[in-house]
Amino acid sequence: MTQTVMPPDVLENLKPDWVVPLVAVLVHPSNKHETGSIFEVGGGHIAKLRWERAKGALLKTGPSLTPGAILKQWNNVNDFSEPSYPTGVADFMSLLEEAQKLADNEQGEQLDFTGKVALVTGGGAGLGRSYCLLFAKYGTSVVVNDLVNPDDVVQEIQKNGGKAVGIKASAEDGDAVVKAAIDAYGRLDIIVNNAGILRDKAFNNMEDKMWDQVIAVHLRGTFKVTKAAWPYFLKQKYGRIVNTTSTSGIYGNFGQANYAAAVCHLEQLVGFWTLTSLRNLVYWASRVPSLERAQSTISVLIPLALMPVQT
Ligand SMILES: NC(=O)c1ccc[n+]([C@@H]2O[C@H](COP(=O)([O-])OP(=O)(O)OC[C@H]3O[C@@H](n4cnc5c(N)ncnc54)[C@H](O)[C@@H]3O)[C@@H](O)[C@H]2O)c1
Repeated sequence: MTQTVMPPDVLENLKPDWVVPLVAVLVHPSNKHETGSIFEVGGGHIAKLRWERAKGALLKTGPSLTPGAILKQWNNVNDFSEPSYPTGVADFMSLLEEAQKLADNEQGEQLDFTGKVALVTGGGAGLGRSYCLLFAKYGTSVVVNDLVNPDDVVQEIQKNGGKAVGIKASAEDGDAVVKAAIDAYGRLDIIVNNAGILRDKAFNNMEDKMWDQVIAVHLRGTFKVTKAAWPYFLKQKYGRIVNTTSTSGIYGNFGQANYAAAVCHLEQLVGFWTLTSLRNLVYWASRVPSLERAQSTISVLIPLALMPVQT
């Protein structure tokens, strides 16, 4: 494979031969410590990569945890001056205890999505429903996609005076899902690839079907919806995509080999395309929802649709 993508003179100096010794070191019986690690290797340089977590912002949960409150603290969200190097999920319970002792959050700029159209896959329940409701509250026209029941959320939004349409389909049928947005509103500005399922099983007992189903919804669903929307984003010279990942995709979790693989890979799927073909036009963000389904989770996530987390 390397020979098909690299010129011979480069290949001569970046030979596969200088990569494979590391693999031998890692699989040798003397390796009793290196596990779950990622290495970067090439040109004689061998280095281990690790996760770095910013100091972050701690906000009081409740009605004052708005997109504007997060914008006010965006510098802290991005502050890597005192990083930590996590090997697991943040201690959300202790953080929540601390957050609840805080005063109401200061508010920054309030967001207005008037004129924008947002599509949420898996919008009929759970986090997806909450995205839909918040987008509608901020003036967005919402497309609720769900395999099971998008209609209740559509009615809920309409009852509150917002704009919404539903499309009952699998996210894997991306063309139909995006068509529903274009048919209803003539454009699409925001996609939240949120549809997801779990088929947990110890790896030893995991069947092909469980693997395929999870990869299909998370990875293929994200690909299909995003691919169908791409021409519209290009034409508009505007688009925002948020993909849903999970701490399982970063740290792993027992019984979730299928889920971890799916959510980890979809970060790369859209991320690299975005970087190569739509630089500065489409901002891409990946999110790691907290294990709690608290209102704070929802509020935290909305600005990601606006912020150029990675360009
Ligand atoms: N809740 C958590 O703690 C958590 C943690 C990490 C990641 N996530 C991810 O966040 C997303 C939402 O999680 P949730 O807890 O709200 O899930 P949920 O099960 O409450 O809701 C998921 C929704 O997606 C729909 N859906 C399933 N397959 C679909 C498909 N092929 N096409 C369209 N819709 C489909 C379901 O009908 C359901 O309405 C998922 O991708 C999940 O993996 C959740």
